[in-house]
Amino acid sequence: MWLDLRVGCDTGHCGACTVLLGDVAVKSCLMLAVQANGEEITTVEGLSHEGKLSKLQESFRNNFALQCGYCTPGFLMLIQSLALRHIKLSENELKEALGGNICRCNNYPLIVRAAMEFLETQ
Ligand code: FES
Ligand code: FES
Repeated sequence: MWLDLRVGCDTGHCGACTVLLGDVAVKSCLMLAVQANGEEITTVEGLSHEGKLSKLQESFRNNFALQCGYCTPGFLMLIQSLALRHIKLSENELKEALGGNICRCNNYPLIVRAAMEFLETQ
């Protein structure tokens, strides 16, 4: 059996494990499964529909904001949560909001640009 398991920091510092618990982004490494009992969980695989990328994913693609499969899912789920919760942020506020997610190759400017572009359409 193929198990697509990517181990992040497991300490709550990198954000790679971010998923949606309802509409709220959470770091799954900090939760016990029982804490999600009865809640709807969405992983990055839940963003696309019938093989079509979501608007957020399109924005990341168009802005060259994705480079690896470690950090990108976490950034996407956090930004998706902001959109679902109708949270409006300035660019500086967004940078702060993304502070719990780490991109080790320092792709932050393009991630912020993609996120701003997407969030402005929400
Ligand atoms: S693996 Fe959960 S925050 Fe890093
Ligand atoms: S793009 Fe994933 S760590 Fe930088």
